[in-house]
Order: sequence, then structure tokens, then C-alpha cells
Amino acid sequence: MAKIIGGIATSHVPAIGAALDNGKTQEPYWQPVFKGYEFAKEWIQQAKPDVVILVYNDHASAFSLELIPTFALGCAAEFPPADEGWGPRPVPVVKGHPELAAHIAQSVILDEFDLTIVNKMAVDHGLTVPLSLVYGQPKEWPCQVIPVAVNVVQYPAPTGNRCYNLGKAIRKAVESYPENLRVMVWGTGGMSHQLQGPRAGLINQPFDNHFLDQIGPHPEKLTRIEHLEYLRESGSEGIEMVMWLVMRGALNENVRVLHRFYHVPASNTAVGHLVLENVG
Ligand SMILES: [Fe+2]
Repeated sequence: MAKIIGGIATSHVPAIGAALDNGKTQEPYWQPVFKGYEFAKEWIQQAKPDVVILVYNDHASAFSLELIPTFALGCAAEFPPADEGWGPRPVPVVKGHPELAAHIAQSVILDEFDLTIVNKMAVDHGLTVPLSLVYGQPKEWPCQVIPVAVNVVQYPAPTGNRCYNLGKAIRKAVESYPENLRVMVWGTGGMSHQLQGPRAGLINQPFDNHFLDQIGPHPEKLTRIEHLEYLRESGSEGIEMVMWLVMRGALNENVRVLHRFYHVPASNTAVGHLVLENVG
């Protein structure tokens, strides 16, 4: 049977991708950011997931204001990197796992989560920057990836609780898939940041660190954070953190935090990162 072995949470700041692609990782501004990912890069070599279910949000690349699914499941065999205005990132095409994705659709939709099935989709920095942070710059990505795109761009975004429960439904789906696959779930986005308006540049380190403290042992507490609280405490883009709760819901009740990293600032945002391993 397929098995979820652990999870990774990470910010997906676009400037991190640009720093990597332009060979700036050793510059004094970026060096501490990339240092925080050395553990994950080592660990993933042993953990070797066959498939990563990568929870992220699209930033008006594949979707626009014309069509905004709350939860979209990538069922295609391939997902090309999106052109976000400067040409597509020079990263490999993302290979999907259509069979497992179809199984997840079947299981999760019958579990009363109305996923949008997406058979053709370009993937933007929200998905490719986490892959680059963990896998570096390989010729091919060493795992298959099932994108799960969550709308956190246009209000109303789903609640943290809804995201957490979606994660549980994904776990049930994966655990009922007959093939022996090592599966990992990644939650991306955040942490506190605001890109526009009078509070642009807002970063709330106590809020972020509380989130990092709680998501391992007490995720239910975080599921009760309301949209207004995210907006007030973590800025207009802080709502991206609900995507970490999809990842957490997909893991066991007990997890071990293998690595924790927090760094401010990276392109006006707070970077947070966790590596979680399932226990039991
Ligand atoms: Fe984002």
C-alpha cells in the first residue's frame, strides 16, 4: 500500500527562485536562506519519496480572475513551468502521477470535498521554488509530483480547518492506494508578509514562531485561526499558511519535528521551513 512518510513546510518566495536561477545563492543576502535548507536536501536523499503531493497556490499563472477553483488537483502526466513574466524558470518539467491523482480524486470527492480536476496546467513559483529548495538544480526532478492548488488569492479562501480536513481526506486516499509508494506531502506559502498597501513589508515574528511551535504537536489550535486574524497578524498574504494545514492534516497525529528554520527577511517576507516525520 502507499504510505505517507512525512511532510515538509516551506515558504515559496519567488525571489528565492530568481536567486537560485541567477547563481546568487552564496551572496551575503541569500546565503543564510539557503543554509536553512541544507538539512532537507540531505534528508530527502534518504527519505526518497516516490511521489510528493505539493500543496501550493497559483499566483494568476494557470488561473485568473476568470476562473478560481478553491481546491484544484493536478491529474496530468506533466506540468510545464509557467511563464510569470520573465520566461519560464529554467527548471525541469514536473512529472505527475495520473494514476494516484485519479485515485485521490475518486476518494476525496466521494469524501465530500469538491476538488476541481485539472488535466492541463502550468505550475508557477509556488510549486517550483519548494522543489528547487529541497532538490537543488537537477536535470530531472527525482520524484513525481501531484499539485494541489489552493485558492488563497481571491477571498474567500478556504478556512484553515477545511484545509486540515482536506489533508486528512488525502491521507485516507493515499493509504488506500494499492501500490507500494513512498509519498510525502508538502505545504507551502507564508509566512507573514504583505506585498501592498500601507502595511507593505509587515512581518510578525511572534505570530510565525507560534505557528511553527504549534503545527507539530497542536495543529487543531491553528485550525481555529480566522481569516481576519491572519490578515491582521500576518499581513494580506499570510493567509497562505492555511496550506501548511493541508500538509499537517495528511500526516499522523504524532509527528517528529526533524528540522526547523526561520529567517527574516527574504524579499520582504518571513521564510519558515519545517521537516516533519510521521511517528507510529
Ligand atoms: Fe505565494
